[in-house]
Amino acid sequence: MNICVIGAGYVGLVTAACFAEVGNTVVCVDNDGEKIRQLCAGHVPLFEPGLDQLVRDNAERGRLHFTGDLARGVAHGEVIFIAVGTPPREDGAADLRNVLGAARAVGELMDGPRVIAAKSTAPPGSAEKVREEIARALESRGAAPSFSVVSNPEFLKQGAAVEDFMRPDRIIIGAREEDRGAVEVMRALYAPFNRNRERLLVMDTASAELTKYAANAMLAARISCMNEIANLAECAGADIESVRAGVGADPRIGYAFIYPGCGYGGSCLPKDVRALRRAARDAGAESKLLDAVEAVNDAQRSKPVEKARAHFGELRGKCFALWGLAFKPDTDDMREAPSRAVMEELWRHGAAVRAFDPAATARARELYGERGDLALFEDDPYRALEGADGLIVVTEWRALRAADPARIKERMRGDVLIDARNIYDPAAIRAAGLVYYGIGRAA
Ligand SMILES: NC(=O)c1ccc[n+]([C@@H]2O[C@H](COP(=O)([O-])OP(=O)(O)OC[C@H]3O[C@@H](n4cnc5c(N)ncnc54)[C@H](O)[C@@H]3O)[C@@H](O)[C@H]2O)c1
Repeated sequence: MNICVIGAGYVGLVTAACFAEVGNTVVCVDNDGEKIRQLCAGHVPLFEPGLDQLVRDNAERGRLHFTGDLARGVAHGEVIFIAVGTPPREDGAADLRNVLGAARAVGELMDGPRVIAAKSTAPPGSAEKVREEIARALESRGAAPSFSVVSNPEFLKQGAAVEDFMRPDRIIIGAREEDRGAVEVMRALYAPFNRNRERLLVMDTASAELTKYAANAMLAARISCMNEIANLAECAGADIESVRAGVGADPRIGYAFIYPGCGYGGSCLPKDVRALRRAARDAGAESKLLDAVEAVNDAQRSKPVEKARAHFGELRGKCFALWGLAFKPDTDDMREAPSRAVMEELWRHGAAVRAFDPAATARARELYGERGDLALFEDDPYRALEGADGLIVVTEWRALRAADPARIKERMRGDVLIDARNIYDPAAIRAAGLVYYGIGRAA
């Protein structure tokens, strides 16, 4: 099939590459000229395991093309995916300008029947707005090609995005009754990813849109619940890691997304929880649980620096090594990363930061520029320790899990380790002569 994907970000690029991989011909369009220039030159401008190779292979085979020219994409794609960003607005709502702008442009350009699949995360009612926008654009130029809009929310996880897209838990298609033909087109398109059991769920568009938010709300709630219990564990002299093991063993609960830490971050959970709260308020519904989920998360982001302040008192003039900048391992994404809250709070208290991350230092440079109180390292985590009074572990990169406590002690000026992801054994850290603070573990 000929496909157009609008948006070459974490979702759009993975979608484009995976559909190309199974034999479709894909034109991927982005309005960021620099991104397209890099992609055309064979460079993938974001870090996602396996994506580089997939993009290169399919571009070489002539199945994956990149352009800034939307007209080319719209002329090519029988199915057009809208996978542009839906960043948070000031009031928390999802900003639909990119989505509706893309929809309008599709309406202005299309010259034959099309299926438009709204993949961006957007609140219930958004696919309907996309339909109206396209219809208005067609009407204003007196054109009448038929089109259908379906909602097709994406559930991939950054860090395992290719794997998730290739082997999805579920494929959700939201459509109106009269767009059943478009559902069959989507079913055919997703057939290569839907092989050993039926994963495709068809529902109305508002339900499809809400399913995406509900999933992220549920995941965020699990994390906040565990963080709240972690804080209680500290007061009660309990160890949250024992509690986690005991709770996760219940098959009704399971082990996923119950890790205590310094809060959830990234490009999805924070903004989607906020957008759902806003959508609830706008609809006259309540969001008491989501309000609490977000409040717990906001407070949790301050925990590492609270612990540093409790230990040192004054932080002015102190220097902290930070291990991990990306919002989670295996990505370079720093959108709403907990590391940012930690660094910004340290700076506010007059401390300096030496940060290590194997993938995200370029992003950190984009965000913070060159500043005197930030040094960045991407090859050797131990270099970040030089002259540091304490180490704060923020992202649980695999390469940090087996760090050598003796070497940490030797390279640091100070002796404090704040393990904001509970990846280390406190006894082993203390045996090396370090002072250990975890999350939800009695000091
Ligand atoms: N990142 C994730 O893990 C993830 C997972 C599931 C769903 N989502 C959702 O998918 C959507 C995209 O997320 P992302 O992380 O890929 O965002 P992103 O910021 O990485 O990518 C969005 C891309 O769209 C481009 N763009 C914006 N407006 C455009 C337009 N009018 N025409 C062409 N290109 C345009 C931008 O230049 C950018 O490259 C969001 O709604 C997000 O909530 C993201």
